[in-house]
Amino acid sequence: MKVLIMGRPGAGKGTQAANIKEYYGIPHISTGDMFRAAIKNQTKLGLTAKEYMDKGALVPDEVTIGIVQERLLEDDCKKGFLLDGFPRTIAQAESLESFLNENGIVLDAVLDVDVPVEILVRRMVGRRVCKGCGATYHVEFNAPKKDGICDVCGTPLIQRNDDNQATAENRLNVYDKQTAPLLEFYKKRNLLKTVNGNQALDKVFEDIKAVLGA
Ligand code: AP5
Ligand code: MG
Repeated sequence: MKVLIMGRPGAGKGTQAANIKEYYGIPHISTGDMFRAAIKNQTKLGLTAKEYMDKGALVPDEVTIGIVQERLLEDDCKKGFLLDGFPRTIAQAESLESFLNENGIVLDAVLDVDVPVEILVRRMVGRRVCKGCGATYHVEFNAPKKDGICDVCGTPLIQRNDDNQATAENRLNVYDKQTAPLLEFYKKRNLLKTVNGNQALDKVFEDIKAVLGA
């Protein structure tokens, strides 16, 4: 299973990716998570990424493309992979296409988790993530059993730096300008599968399974 998951910021890509990873047994590769790990480890990549992420802008293509290609060549990707948050520009999509062709890798599907833009800022501002295991919650829509504590590993939950009103709004604008054109790109290649992401979390996953096949 070789799949891309797309959708506006806050649409539920990471939430559904966790389900897909477990159900299909494939690695979840999120460029956002890779950048956040680099920031935490204070690497050179992290310093560069932070500058863009805190504003809600995209990290430059020349930085992003290389780290994804390197990751896709690792052994665990031989059985399949789920790419979350990449590609996000036409240049990234074109470079990914050439890379996959050169390596004889064929994509099965591109999922688009579709959620109306009006409800997304609320989803982002209310999101909380576990510092330990990365599990995602929402103060209203997917609250942990104990306030501020991860159900899975008991670690305190934090708010992402880019989950404030102004940055969230900017991320949505950046998506419209730079990422939305990719839907047409993948539609032309007969890979695009749109799923309604404005439903209960479990129902979204049921629809994803129906589209991907068991
Ligand atoms: P990234 O980390 O990819 O963020 P994003 O695309 O903005 O998406 P999010 O992670 O915010 O949302 P999501 O769709 O994963 O939603 P989630 O499941 O958490 O990127 C961050 C930054 O990194 C970018 O701005 C950029 O700077 C940089 N970057 C990353 N990739 C890049 C690239 N390829 N090129 C250049 N730069 C790049 O859900 C959101 C909330 O909603 C949660 O609280 C969740 O509990 C809740 N929720 C989920 N589903 C539902 C539901 N069905 N009903 C109710 N609530 C729900
Ligand atoms: Mg995410």
